[in-house]
Amino acid sequence: MKEMVNIYVMGKLYSVPVGLTIMNAMEFAGYKHIRGCGCRAGFCGACAVVYRIKGDNELRFALACQTAVEENMYIASIPFFPTQKAQYDIKDIKPTEQIMMQLYPEIYSCIGCNACTKACPQNLKVMQYVAQAQRADYAACAEESFDCVACGMCSNRCPAGISHPLVALLARRLNGKYIMPKSAHLEDRANAIAKGDFIDALEAIAGKSIDQITELYNHREIEKK
Ligand code: FES
Repeated sequence: MKEMVNIYVMGKLYSVPVGLTIMNAMEFAGYKHIRGCGCRAGFCGACAVVYRIKGDNELRFALACQTAVEENMYIASIPFFPTQKAQYDIKDIKPTEQIMMQLYPEIYSCIGCNACTKACPQNLKVMQYVAQAQRADYAACAEESFDCVACGMCSNRCPAGISHPLVALLARRLNGKYIMPKSAHLEDRANAIAKGDFIDALEAIAGKSIDQITELYNHREIEKK
């Protein structure tokens, strides 16, 4: 007999096996994820949930696919809501101070409450990376926000209406295109792909069975360190 815990999903009580993730526990309880579920591996940010543990007034935030259920967890999943995405072409902008003012002016209304950082299921220093974006320190903002999965929990809590993941995305794009040194071998490889150098090899793989591909993968040449 498996050990069970009691959880509440949208206010309804369920008994579910210990050790399940919130996502799997909801499915065990009969929920079918149509939205609020994507990669199931902590990368896509689709599965944000809020929860409280009975008797504790702290509101907690988590990715349902990455967080195990606990006894007396009251869980609600967050429906999708749009964040404000600025329109720009990365080729037409530059990593200046003005560009954030122009595209995401609301970041300068940050009141420093730190609710964004407290809401981040990835434990990122969200308020800090927004401050770096304010100062046009895009390299630091890109580094600090690197693990953002854009679940939107920070924006959900922000009294200033900041779209933190999109601000961070802009900083990472500016950083990648204009600040980081150019990767020559990546450019060479991208040009070779564009020229069609790999079409024959890809077609040969596409014509193989799953077993043949598995065999090839298991005996692939591995780059030496
Ligand atoms: S389903 Fe993608 S992060 Fe949870």
